[in-house]
Amino acid sequence: MRDVDAGTASTGPRVLPRNDPRQYDDLAGEWWRPDGAFAMLHWLAAARAALVPPTSRPDALLVDLGCGAGLLAPHLSGKGYRHVGVDVTRSALAQAAEHGVCVVQGDATAVPLPDGCADVVSAGELLEHVPAWPRVVAEACRLLRPGGLLVLDTLNDTALARLVAVRIAERLPTVPRGIHDPRLFVDARALVAECARHGVDLRLRGIRPQAGGLVAWLLRRRRVARTGATSAGRAPRIVPTRSTAVLYQGRGVRNG
Ligand SMILES: C[S@@+](CC[C@H](N)C(=O)[O-])C[C@H]1O[C@@H](n2cnc3c(N)ncnc32)[C@H](O)[C@@H]1O
Repeated sequence: MRDVDAGTASTGPRVLPRNDPRQYDDLAGEWWRPDGAFAMLHWLAAARAALVPPTSRPDALLVDLGCGAGLLAPHLSGKGYRHVGVDVTRSALAQAAEHGVCVVQGDATAVPLPDGCADVVSAGELLEHVPAWPRVVAEACRLLRPGGLLVLDTLNDTALARLVAVRIAERLPTVPRGIHDPRLFVDARALVAECARHGVDLRLRGIRPQAGGLVAWLLRRRRVARTGATSAGRAPRIVPTRSTAVLYQGRGVRNG
């Protein structure tokens, strides 16, 4: 049984349905603010990039599905990839391009790039926003060359994830209100099975923000909001956790 209603998002002057992509236009000014509404995406991007090894292949390509404003880009610096980002949101892509991403406007369920073109495909915080997530998985695997690497992170389809990522997180400044539709959260077993069907042996691990760092960040952010002081301090680290019940990363190599 689902325990969170579909609800709405209030991201500014207009009220939109949950998971409506126009929210990213309303929040366009938030992407690159380290302590802004998308702060947690910065922390997750760092953790995702850590799964990607440097490449020595000339012209190695990393395709970043649902790239948003390109928050992965700084964390890939020096790893040797050409970073191509695919997203439906033009306002986000414009910012990704400013950060060195080669951008393609398109749907991650029908990517206008050739089979086997990618050494790495990344799908960070995307699957839980797409009603037909298996089609994104199929596209990600199609884009990978044999031996290529898939990295992703998403929210599990569990009551605990709905409680933590919607009911609790949307009351904190870490997640914009209404950005998630909990009905789209991604069952971890189904995801592993879908990847296997497309030749990728996906290994999962649970992740979460490191607790002390998160509390310090929340307190600092509250102090900044109250006093207007400039915020300077370390971002919380994303650390592995035993359970995949809320947030999890996946990493797998395409066979063939
Ligand atoms: C939560 S944001 C994550 C952005 C980025 N991956 C990151 O971690 O910073 C989700 C992104 O997915 C994009 N998106 C949603 N549905 C999509 C689809 N069907 N195809 C491509 N992009 C999509 C949104 O526009 C948004 O930029």
